[in-house]
Amino acid sequence: MPRLRFRLCRRHSRIVIDVRLAGSGDWQVWRKLRLEALADAPYAFASRLEDWQGDGDRAERWRARLSIPGSCNVIAALDRRAVGMVSGFPGPRDGVVELGTLWVSRAVRGQGVGDLLVQTVAHWAVQLRASVLLLTVASDNEHAVALYRRNGFDDARWSGGPRVAGRPQRMMTKALRPSRVETRTPALVSTSRENASPATPRRVRRQPFPPGSE
Ligand SMILES: CC(C)(COP(=O)(O)OP(=O)(O)OC[C@H]1O[C@@H](n2cnc3c(N)ncnc32)[C@H](O)[C@@H]1OP(=O)(O)O)[C@@H](O)C(=O)NCCC(=O)NCCS
Repeated sequence: MPRLRFRLCRRHSRIVIDVRLAGSGDWQVWRKLRLEALADAPYAFASRLEDWQGDGDRAERWRARLSIPGSCNVIAALDRRAVGMVSGFPGPRDGVVELGTLWVSRAVRGQGVGDLLVQTVAHWAVQLRASVLLLTVASDNEHAVALYRRNGFDDARWSGGPRVAGRPQRMMTKALRPSRVETRTPALVSTSRENASPATPRRVRRQPFPPGSE
């Protein structure tokens, strides 16, 4: 399975993050991350922790979650420890991809892992020839909204959907431009230095490596 390595540099810290696609065989890693995310940030997700515990916590359910047709699921790891996740799903109409399930472990927040995950899904969506990336986020989730804005998302006109955990939601969209995105975001389908360019989003300098190069 393709895996890319990025150096994220911020102020005086520097971490090396591996990003890879998760398949149904990765359900245990995904489960651990997702349960941690739901426990850590119940305000951020429509799913609740209890939905995925007890009877809801079954291997086949996790496998099915990672096998949704037309979806991608991405895991970020630091020193082989999974520290972040994000998904892309088919959107409400052709050409639209929905981003969701974004979570970064508190231990590595503020170092560009969220940027990397969002850009990975954007790149995947471009490869699908999608023209819009869409998401919903709690309006008062300031860190997430700021992250989305600096990655090119704007507020979309929306009549409003159901509240999540009692919080109003906002919809944000990002227009995808194939030529631009393809040269600026990580390429999970390719591990070559040439194809995965050293893009420079805010506060993040990334340097991709082929797997096994270190
Ligand atoms: C949204 C999220 C992925 C951003 O993580 P990130 O990309 O690593 O964080 P950012 O680069 O935006 O962080 C910027 C600053 O805010 C801080 N920060 C980020 N998220 C924070 C949070 N939820 N609570 C408090 N501080 C936070 C960082 O530590 C950093 O501080 P610093 O500049 O002093 O170092 C992460 O906050 C998260 O997983 N939140 C919970 C789940 C969530 O809201 N998902 C989005 C659903 S739509």
